[in-house]
Amino acid sequence: MRKTDRRAIFKITQLSIALNKSTDDISPMVTGVGVDLSHISTISEVKGFCGNDQIEEALTGCDLVIIPAGIPRKPGMTRDDLFKINAGIVRDLVQNVAKFCPNAVLNIISNPVNSTVPIAAEVMKKNDCYDPKKILGVTTLDVMRAKTFVAGLRPDDIKDVTLCDVPVVGGHAGTTIIPLLSQVTPKLSKPFEGEELTALVTRIQNAGTEVVDAKAGAGSATLSMALAAENMATSCLRAMSGEKGIVECAYVASEVIPELAFFACKCELGESGVEKVLGCGEMDSYEKVQVSNAVAELKASIDKGVEFANAPVAEK
Ligand code: LMR
Repeated sequence: MRKTDRRAIFKITQLSIALNKSTDDISPMVTGVGVDLSHISTISEVKGFCGNDQIEEALTGCDLVIIPAGIPRKPGMTRDDLFKINAGIVRDLVQNVAKFCPNAVLNIISNPVNSTVPIAAEVMKKNDCYDPKKILGVTTLDVMRAKTFVAGLRPDDIKDVTLCDVPVVGGHAGTTIIPLLSQVTPKLSKPFEGEELTALVTRIQNAGTEVVDAKAGAGSATLSMALAAENMATSCLRAMSGEKGIVECAYVASEVIPELAFFACKCELGESGVEKVLGCGEMDSYEKVQVSNAVAELKASIDKGVEFANAPVAEK
């Protein structure tokens, strides 16, 4: 494919689950969503595909596959509570990626991201097409939330939130979400400390739950998540097309924390996905403690994903 003609695919199973219908039942609606989107005047051509019968056609030729599929949380649930259903959905989709577009870059959104990314890696390994550079867990929404909340608290320092940056490292669940508030740019005239710091960190870590609770059983973040996914996908596509210097936080295979096979941190993107894992930079002592406290949970989530992906698949 030409570099300017990269294709991306979204697999929409959340719609079918939300409607409690099979993908066959919602086929006309998915087709309709495709037609609806195809009328938007961009340089992209939009086509809708639905169901396993069309998965080969949907995936063949894809350079970037975005996987948001799965069920969302209800109030009181953790992201890990979604593992039982979403792990199998991600495994099966990635199996198809391995079959039909093994060289594609993957953006994985389906929760629990801390486990679904290791699942994707194991599936690709089993199919002899694993490239650690090509599997990225999307943690962009954590960065977006951190920027929004920081800008809200420091309006004099941050006049334009879009020009602000807050690296978020670790993972994408609860206290594994670690905003590096000592590294906010532009530099803050008054750093976050004491109760203000802990309240802000807690808000960033619980922001997904804030949405889940506000939606009161009707799902989790969709609109902010869609923008985060679009930002990440666009960064990947620009880097894959040769643009240099594009940096995003993502949950990727890394050696940043020796005990952890996967960790979220700043990554420089390139033509084949993650060009360079940039790590955490200079963290202060509070951030170092947070990272070290997150290791056990991250390791357990990674091990759970690896074990699941390597377990025999039950007959359907
Ligand atoms: C989010 O951060 O909004 C998503 O991971 C969805 C969720 O369950 O919180």
